[in-house]
This record gives sequence, structure tokens and C-alpha cells, in this order.
Amino acid sequence: MILGIETSCDETAAAVVQGRRVLSNVVRSQVRQHAPYGGVVPEIAARAHLEWLPAVITRALDAAALPGFEALEAVAVTRGPGLAGALLVGYATALGLSLRLGCPLIGVNHIEAHLFSALLSPEGDCPQECFPALSLVVSGGHTLLYRVQSLERYVLVGRTLDDAAGEAFDKGAALLGLDYPGGPAIARLAEGAAIGRIRFPRARPRPDNPLLSGLRSAYCWSFSGLKTALRVYLERHPDPDVETQAAIAADYQEAIVDALVGVCDRSLQGERCLFVGGGVALNRRLQSKLRDWAHARGVSLRLTPTAYCGDNAAMIAAVAALGKGIRGTSLDRLEIQPNLFASERGVSCG
Ligand code: KG4
Ligand code: ZN
Repeated sequence: MILGIETSCDETAAAVVQGRRVLSNVVRSQVRQHAPYGGVVPEIAARAHLEWLPAVITRALDAAALPGFEALEAVAVTRGPGLAGALLVGYATALGLSLRLGCPLIGVNHIEAHLFSALLSPEGDCPQECFPALSLVVSGGHTLLYRVQSLERYVLVGRTLDDAAGEAFDKGAALLGLDYPGGPAIARLAEGAAIGRIRFPRARPRPDNPLLSGLRSAYCWSFSGLKTALRVYLERHPDPDVETQAAIAADYQEAIVDALVGVCDRSLQGERCLFVGGGVALNRRLQSKLRDWAHARGVSLRLTPTAYCGDNAAMIAAVAALGKGIRGTSLDRLEIQPNLFASERGVSCG
């Protein structure tokens, strides 16, 4: 019985998980607080976490029908990566709780939690049957591809060298005058629109890009040129009518989706499964193109259940329940790590 706490960015979240069974999953989104600024404001995020986290934890315990805090066997918390002030609120809360309850504190890598979030379905295969797998983590902050041998061993094979896929959606939406977060806004606008009127680039980094640092350019993304292409297009074709705007949104979305599917295709080396997690995994067009691709390549597609795509604490508690994360005897050795990265080559970070 593990309480998970997640405060790395702009969702205040707590969940109670028993093995791979999620007993409760409470997420309070701060989207409305940040919307006027077109992105997450770190100070506002930290303050909102501070204000909301106690109630969110209480709701998670109530929803799980736990008799009380004493029923908890461990407290798992995101230790990074994320916004320093935001992480600190969750970490300090988790540390206080674990000390008071006399139960272990488990520090979890947020990216590792997204990486395995597709396993958060009790009906799914047991994890061992999914490996070897590829795991695509696509969110507002990250676009990463891992080759996963087992729960213990995975290696980063590709990543974005600039903007994350979600960021490309958010920035594109801002250029189109749509609301934040931009992903759902672009997806809504694109629904039913014709595809192929505007050809946006499916840019890949050049093989000599020093930022690749050993990764293959064919497995990496670059989304900043796409955003520029949209800006230039809008400068040349100002004030599009409603139908044209929908077509622009559809082609812009298509460019992001194609780039994501393209890397999965090029990097596949006999893996049985593709896991997909993170906020952008909610994108219907991405889901549909990945489904077609997986069918054609004989890969089993494991989309993370909707409730666990965006930032949430169930995925944090669940990776702790899978035996991952740092659980030292000395609690004070655990610290937040805003720049934590999954993974070091060849080994998972714990
Ligand atoms: O995982 P997440 O909730 O937070 C981060 O860790 O970043 O992901 C948020 C990102 C935002 O960039 C948002 O625009 C994007 O996920 N997103 C979507 C959709 N829903 C959320 N992008 C495309 N299509 C969607 N339906
Ligand atoms: Zn995330």
C-alpha cells in the first residue's frame, strides 16, 4: 500500500496504489492558474502545490477507502526532473509523512514513471511478457525513446534536441491564437479537417549535430524548425479563415505525429511492444497512426491508460511498487534533483 505524491510541474497529485492496482488517483491541475501566461510559471506552481497538496492527499486516502495514514506501507515521491520549487513541496511533504508514520520514503524518477506507465493496467500482461519493448515518452517537457530490456535495464536511444513534442503543440497553438495547453486545442481544431494542404517539415537533426552526443540522428527529433515554419506560414498567409485555420492545425499536428511515428519505425529492432506515455499520448491522431504502424510491424501497442498519461501520482507509486526508486535507510540522503535524467547509458537510474 503505497502513497504516491507528484508535484514536479503543474499538477498537484496524490494516489494510493497496491501493486499495479490503483486504489485512488487524485490530480488537481493548475492549468487555469498558468493559462494567462501561456506556460507554467514556476513560482505560481510551487505556491499552488503548497496550498493544495494536503487536501489532495486527504482525498486520495479517502477515495482509496483507507482507514487512515497508518495503513500506508511506504510514501513514494517524485524527486526529479522538474521545477525545483515545485519538487521541494512534494518532497518535504513526503519526507514529513514518512518520518511521522515510520515508513520508507521512496524517491522516484518522474521520467521512469512515464516510461513504465503503460503497465498501469491491471488487465495487462505481466511486465515480463512485454519485454523487450520500446518506450516513447511524449509530454510537454520531454520527448524520449527508450529500448527497454526489463524493468531494471533500459537505454535511451533517442530524444528531442530542442522543443518537446508537447511544447511544439503548445507553441504552435499560441501562434494560432489558441488556448493553453495547446495540444488538446490543436487536436480539437484539426478534427475532421483535410490533411495535406500545407506541407510542414518532418525535420530530423543533422548527423553532425553536437547535441546528439552519441545518439543516432535517425532516432532523434527536432521540433523547433516546425514552429518556425508555422510562424513563417502565418506571416505569409495572415488571417486565415476558419476552414484554413483547421487545415493548418491538422497539418501541423500531422507533422508532429509523423515525426514521432517515424522514429519508432526506424528504431524498431525486433521489440515486441511499444509503450507510449506522457500527455501527448492522449493525442487521438498519434494513437491512430501508432495503431496502424504497430499492426503493420507486428508490434503490440501499449498506450498508457488515459488517467495516467498526464502527470499523476499513480505512476509514481506504481514504479515504487515495482521495486524501483531510491529507498535508502537514511532518509535525509534523498534530495530533489531538478535535472535528473533517465537514463545513464545501459542502466536504469534508481
Ligand atoms: O505529461 P503532461 O501532462 O505534462 C508534462 O509533464 O509536460 O503533458 C502536457 C503536454 C502539453 O504540452 C499538452 O499540450 C500536451 O501534453 N497534450 C496534448 C494532448 N493533450 C495534452 N498534445 C496533443 N494532443 C493532445 N490531445
Ligand atoms: Zn511528466
